Amino acid sequence: MSEALAAKAARLDAEDELAKLRDRFALETPSEGNAAVYLDGNSLGALPRNVPERLAEVVAHEWGRMRIRSWEESGWWTAPERVGDRIAPLIGAGPGRVVAGDSTSVNVFKAVVGAVRLSGGPEQDRDEVLVDATTFPTDGYIAGSAARMTGCRVRAVEPAALGEALGGRTAAVLVNHVDYRTGRLYDLPGITAAAHAAGAPIVWDLCHSAGALPVGLDEHRVEFAVGCTYKYLNGGPGAPAYLYVREDVQPAFDSPLPGWNSHADPFGMTSGYTPADGAVRGRVGTPDILSMLALEAALEVWDGVDIGAVRAKSLALTDFFLECVDAYVPGGRLSCATPAAHAERGSQIALRCDDAGEVMRGLVARGVVGDFRPPDVLRFGFTPLYTGFADTERAARVLADVLAGVPVAR
Ligand SMILES: Cc1ncc(COP(=O)(O)O)c(C=O)c1O
Repeated sequence: MSEALAAKAARLDAEDELAKLRDRFALETPSEGNAAVYLDGNSLGALPRNVPERLAEVVAHEWGRMRIRSWEESGWWTAPERVGDRIAPLIGAGPGRVVAGDSTSVNVFKAVVGAVRLSGGPEQDRDEVLVDATTFPTDGYIAGSAARMTGCRVRAVEPAALGEALGGRTAAVLVNHVDYRTGRLYDLPGITAAAHAAGAPIVWDLCHSAGALPVGLDEHRVEFAVGCTYKYLNGGPGAPAYLYVREDVQPAFDSPLPGWNSHADPFGMTSGYTPADGAVRGRVGTPDILSMLALEAALEVWDGVDIGAVRAKSLALTDFFLECVDAYVPGGRLSCATPAAHAERGSQIALRCDDAGEVMRGLVARGVVGDFRPPDVLRFGFTPLYTGFADTERAARVLADVLAGVPVAR
């Protein structure tokens, strides 16, 4: 069985048009023997090869020699909008709608308060912020605070029940595009349309979908979206997040964090606040330039890459992983928390077993890096830019060895 699947993996790798992109990353080549199979790019993307040199140049030249002049002459001041415009095509947004900066948590705050204010909030009898009940925790915490500050309350709703929960009292809706634990993909076009039919603006958290599948923010008329760049966008640990604001919503976007970077005339240093036009309105304070420019360089790996092809490969990889797990792991040992239907699957596979923590430690010891989410989830992220089918087959084979108690080869 394993020979047939290994042969299939070799064939799929040979046919894979994205396979060559792996060279854009600082990863060991599989032929180097003990190279790890890195299936944690849904948590921290791998390092693009061009980033260290670019960062060294920024430090030595732009900061070291140009110093203060770099804010203008090296384009530091406008980096948040410029980097936002590089992210934009990956999430189906036109230019001028995305600004990079802050963390996802901070951007959730800006977007949820912005959405409540856009809806009219309690003054228009809209006093409920609907949040998907399975949300990544930070979104729920921040939405709770944003709701309190705007005179609303949070209502946690299972994503499947959002349709019934929406109504005239809905001030804003916050949904994760892909569930971080199960890898379930939610119906962005359908849920967005339902929110709009109830007269409510929507905020999407794209942390687990941007860079893994097409999103179509402009097409589906999403008001706000947020996401991080350290997963599938490979921006590096703690890389700046981003905020998307739909173009026609921008003039009415009333940011709860109107810092001087979002002022129409930041260097006018006036005491009164006049918001800038466009995505810049989502800025707050001085951007973290080193991380921002590392991210900008990291985004170069996407040059010439079609996100539709990325999605096709992601589904092929996760299908193949499930096929290999099915073949190698005895029935009943694991259960799959990720939907089988492609329309409901992100780019990760979540497998459940009672001893998941121990199993993941065994996998990492054997060079297969995924992660463990308590209490019982093994997460395997598939990053089509640098994960291949042979990696995938090896991961499933090693998983079967770990589950069977085969000792680590020394
Ligand atoms: C879905 C989701 N939302 C929000 C966050 C939090 O992002 P940050 O730490 O940048 O605020 C994460 C982090 O992994 C996440 O997966």
